[in-house]
Amino acid sequence: MENRIHNSYLASKVMSADQAAAQILPGMTVGMSGFTGSGYPKAVPLALAAQIESAHARGESFALKLLTGASTAPELDGALAKVGGIDFRLPYQSDPDLRTRINRGEIEYMDIHLGQVAQYTWFGFLGKLDMAVVEVSAILPDGRLVPSTSVGNNKTWLDLADKVIIEVNSAQPAGLDGMHDIYYGTALPPERKPIPLTGPDDRIGEPYLRVDPAKVVAVVETHGPDRLGRFSPPDESSIQIANHLVEFFRHEIAMGRLGEQLLPLQSGVGNIANAVLSGLRDGGFEGLTAFTEVIQDGMLDLIRTDTIRRASATALSLSPEGVEEFGRNIEHYRSRIVLRPQEISNHAELVRRLGCIAINGMVEADIYGNVNSTHVAGSSIINGIGGSGDFARNGFLSCFVTPSTAKNGAISCIVPMVSHVDHTEHDVAVVVTEQGLADLRGLSPKQRARAVINNCAHPDYRPLLQDYFERALRASPGKHTPHLLGEALSWHERFVASGHMKP
Ligand code: COA
Repeated sequence: MENRIHNSYLASKVMSADQAAAQILPGMTVGMSGFTGSGYPKAVPLALAAQIESAHARGESFALKLLTGASTAPELDGALAKVGGIDFRLPYQSDPDLRTRINRGEIEYMDIHLGQVAQYTWFGFLGKLDMAVVEVSAILPDGRLVPSTSVGNNKTWLDLADKVIIEVNSAQPAGLDGMHDIYYGTALPPERKPIPLTGPDDRIGEPYLRVDPAKVVAVVETHGPDRLGRFSPPDESSIQIANHLVEFFRHEIAMGRLGEQLLPLQSGVGNIANAVLSGLRDGGFEGLTAFTEVIQDGMLDLIRTDTIRRASATALSLSPEGVEEFGRNIEHYRSRIVLRPQEISNHAELVRRLGCIAINGMVEADIYGNVNSTHVAGSSIINGIGGSGDFARNGFLSCFVTPSTAKNGAISCIVPMVSHVDHTEHDVAVVVTEQGLADLRGLSPKQRARAVINNCAHPDYRPLLQDYFERALRASPGKHTPHLLGEALSWHERFVASGHMKP
């Protein structure tokens, strides 16, 4: 293992993951690093899970309030959830074990806009932060920390926690040094000043994280990769979604509302958003920029080909092949990617100033353009809202994409009324499925309903939606947003009862 710890005081704090984990006590509020499967601590959470399991075997209660940047990995969320070591979790998560326990009611989960987690913590809304556990890729001689593959909320955790455990992961590319931009100019109201960022790739901070050495109770050396999954290759449906978006962007350029280089792109998590980006590469665009939260394979590919020339994010979330490509051409990527704290990558002020084009996946949209990004049948959480709301509300354009059906056609992703609302009709400008694109800008609810039904619904469900809308219109003539309240959620009820939305 190469030595990445160049500060002698912090080197004196090196210990085993077991010894470090032993300093995390029942009931603590712990802020851990990790964002969409990257840059999470690899050893301490596993050691902690074993200690929690032993404590439970002795009949002792032991659970934590766990805060992160976003989703982590089986070694963190999965391991702690499996042993019943989490009683409260925020924000975004995507681990199957954690999700199951949240939906069984064993863990309280607070879904919150990713751009707001840091300020919530600074405001004191989440109580005191007892411990930070943060992965970095090196410690400099002066004690500053070279961040890892994600920045997330690490600055806030390091600043606010009473105690700090640092994991130094020597498997993370040394070439990450210099890619980060940590802004230390945030403040609490009424002391806040404008954030001096006017271009997606502006550097407004410093490349390293600061930590008060007196708070560091342990340093743990690790050597392991981020455990990241693979993306599904673009299928026919996502290629069509991408084609509709490309045609729409071309139309916006022709109308003079967008330039040839568009505006900074934000692309959400998930297979569909990833595939849509691959589609943009084939759309003939070049010299684009991105101001986004996470760089997945699709965006890395656009940066590789210089379709995107500059990208700002808070995390890399790459498949094993993506990680290999990133390592192979790290110099290319280093000059094109800036990784920032998520309170900056997702900041409402900056998203609005830059005029981001937000493209996010969704679970379902209703005929009026309200969007559900998080829940199945209104009650079971899938992942969380992530940063979609940060960008959807504040961006220049807010696009939501989904195949028109899910589960082999058993579910229509266009429904009379969404079973849970993450993005209201006011934050949704464009809805896209493989069937087509509904441009909802400047439309009233009834005009939106016609656009969504006619352009986005699957032919199997379109007549049912048309029938619902026409009967709702007749039942409440002249009403602003006609609904049949007794029937609006009947499609979901039917799905829960029979596994199919069709009557
Ligand atoms: N009802 C029930 N399940 C649905 C559904 C619906 N209307 N639409 C999709 N699903 C299921 C799919 O069947 C799939 O399930 P599976 O994993 O069991 O096969 C799962 O949801 C994921 O769907 P998929 O079509 O593969 O899309 P995706 O990977 O692009 O993910 C979201 C879609 C909505 C789950 C994902 O985009 C997300 O979590 N979004 C919220 C966070 C976000 O937008 N962050 C952006 C800022 S970075």
